[in-house]
Amino acid sequence: MSVSTSVDLKLYPAYAFETMIEELSTALLRLGMRFEPSDAGRVLQGEGEVGRVVRWQPPEAISIEWHGADWEPTKVSSMELRFEPIVGGTRVTLENPEWAKFVGDEAQELAGWFASEAAAPLLAAMAPRRFGDWFTDRKARRPSGRQSRDTYRDPIYHRPNFKVILGALNLQPHDYLVEVGCGGGAFLHDALKSGCRAAAIDHSSEMVKVASEANREAIAQHRLEIREGDASLLPFASGVFTCAVMTGVFGFIADPLRALSEIRRVLAPGG
Ligand SMILES: C[S@@+](CC[C@H](N)C(=O)[O-])C[C@H]1O[C@@H](n2cnc3c(N)ncnc32)[C@H](O)[C@@H]1O
Repeated sequence: MSVSTSVDLKLYPAYAFETMIEELSTALLRLGMRFEPSDAGRVLQGEGEVGRVVRWQPPEAISIEWHGADWEPTKVSSMELRFEPIVGGTRVTLENPEWAKFVGDEAQELAGWFASEAAAPLLAAMAPRRFGDWFTDRKARRPSGRQSRDTYRDPIYHRPNFKVILGALNLQPHDYLVEVGCGGGAFLHDALKSGCRAAAIDHSSEMVKVASEANREAIAQHRLEIREGDASLLPFASGVFTCAVMTGVFGFIADPLRALSEIRRVLAPGG
């Protein structure tokens, strides 16, 4: 008895492969599992290995030898991720063709496992609240994925805000700016043209990476540091910054008063 799930993507197989492997690695990390995608790759949960890549054939397929249970380390099955060309794109299928190895050949058990571990989570994920949460996170609250990285590298719809804020701050070379929720670092890039120094945080690791790439030069010159962190606990000393910026962020913050008092803590008097 096998278990499988699939999705049709409007992407060429090579691009579908690359995209899916990247997304899967990120998603598994959120679930506490580290996927090393290569021909000698593994999947680790904590220190323990739960899977090992046994076939690495981009852009067609990969197979992972999967350990189903801690207490039966010798019982393994295979998880296959296949990429088949279809009209207009690629069908991506994840299949465990040997599901019965784990609990025997019992249809009721398979129905129970499939309902609770595959079908119900999928239905819940597509219900309005969960889907809305995922979508908001992905696009704005904690941006992730290629499209968001591209958007925040050049956030054209935010540039009018940047212009107004820069006008109000009138930054000078002696200024030391802190930005909370810096996204892809486009505002920092404009602000640093004043000759000021700056520090910034964002709780999206992908945004920290994009912002760091966009401001590579200023970081190398020690005029800028960007850290992964949360607005509720700024990783900076008290009273050091002359000004602070938070744009397009406030509405996403769970505890706004805490975030504002952190900003006040790190600002110098009069900042
Ligand atoms: C809509 S984007 C705006 C990005 C940037 N300020 C701009 O205007 O282009 C919101 C950003 O705030 C970050 N963010 C949201 N809540 C945060 C929190 N609690 N701590 C740190 N960053 C946060 C998100 O990860 C995201 O990069």
